[in-house]
Amino acid sequence: MTKKRVLSGMQPSGLLHLGNLMGALDNWRKLQDQYECYYFIADWHALTTNYADTSMIGTYVHEMVLNWLAAGLDPEKSVLFKQSLVPEHAVLHVLLSMATPLPWLERVPTYKEKLEQVADKDLHTYGFLGYPVLQAADILIYKADFVPVGIDQLPHLELTREICRRFDQFYGNVFPEPQPLMTEYPKLPGTDGRKMSKSYNNCLYLSESPEELSKKVMQMVTDPARVRRQDPGNPDVCPLFALDKIFAPKEWCEHVNVECRRAGIGCVDDKKELLKHLLAFLKPLQERRKELAAHPKRVLEIIQEGSGRARVVAAQTLAEVNEAMKL
Ligand code: TRP
Repeated sequence: MTKKRVLSGMQPSGLLHLGNLMGALDNWRKLQDQYECYYFIADWHALTTNYADTSMIGTYVHEMVLNWLAAGLDPEKSVLFKQSLVPEHAVLHVLLSMATPLPWLERVPTYKEKLEQVADKDLHTYGFLGYPVLQAADILIYKADFVPVGIDQLPHLELTREICRRFDQFYGNVFPEPQPLMTEYPKLPGTDGRKMSKSYNNCLYLSESPEELSKKVMQMVTDPARVRRQDPGNPDVCPLFALDKIFAPKEWCEHVNVECRRAGIGCVDDKKELLKHLLAFLKPLQERRKELAAHPKRVLEIIQEGSGRARVVAAQTLAEVNEAMKL
């Protein structure tokens, strides 16, 4: 029986944080046994917003691979590769772009949002508008059956499906329609209580030392109405408690849920307890990370080898596309 194929990508536009681990990476790791998985570093996608300054991209790519491997993505099980090492993605992007109506791209919700919100970059570029076409090429060139994505990426996947249908309508049945594989995971709060996100500068990074992580957690925002130790708190609105529920044992959460409300324990007590569990949880990952970081050549080889494997599949699909389009 052949396994269904899964594909997903991540942009190397920053360091990976705990939210990336719990929301995406851990899910990717679990999918490895059930599916034939292709995971790639979307470095061209990172250029759609960071084209003016590419000085950090090499670091972020390397960091990303370290975190992937440390989190349990296994090059023996999955194809781990880098987009820019598989130029076939770009060729398919050009071909898909010919038949993609401009209004489809202008309608993508994230497009307008980002144009309005991102003030420090000029996003009125061809590449930024074409971002979802590139994403469609990434997916279709492997004829992926499933794409694990968070809810924010659903409109992009829907557009991929539309582009796929249009292509198949014009040129015959080349691509299967990829389906989303939704990740149900509560958004992790960051240290300021908002969603953990690098643009808010509130992240706990996988590459941070236990000391750095401890410092951040000890300064973390809790129930804002609980000012003094003797004030009763409300765990339901406390970002620290949201992390407890993920990383601390159930008994501790139940204890906090009662004691915090009657000022029986303080935020500092809860922070110390959370840290104990959080650091223990991250320890094996961080140890693997350290080992891998000592062998940068090996890390490079893994990506080169994976990209070679990806290219074989991509080239095969591209040959079929050329034939279907009579090129
Ligand atoms: N756009 C995705 C993100 O920012 C990354 C990505 C690029 C991707 N190509 C993809 C995800 C293909 C899934 C499939 O998270």
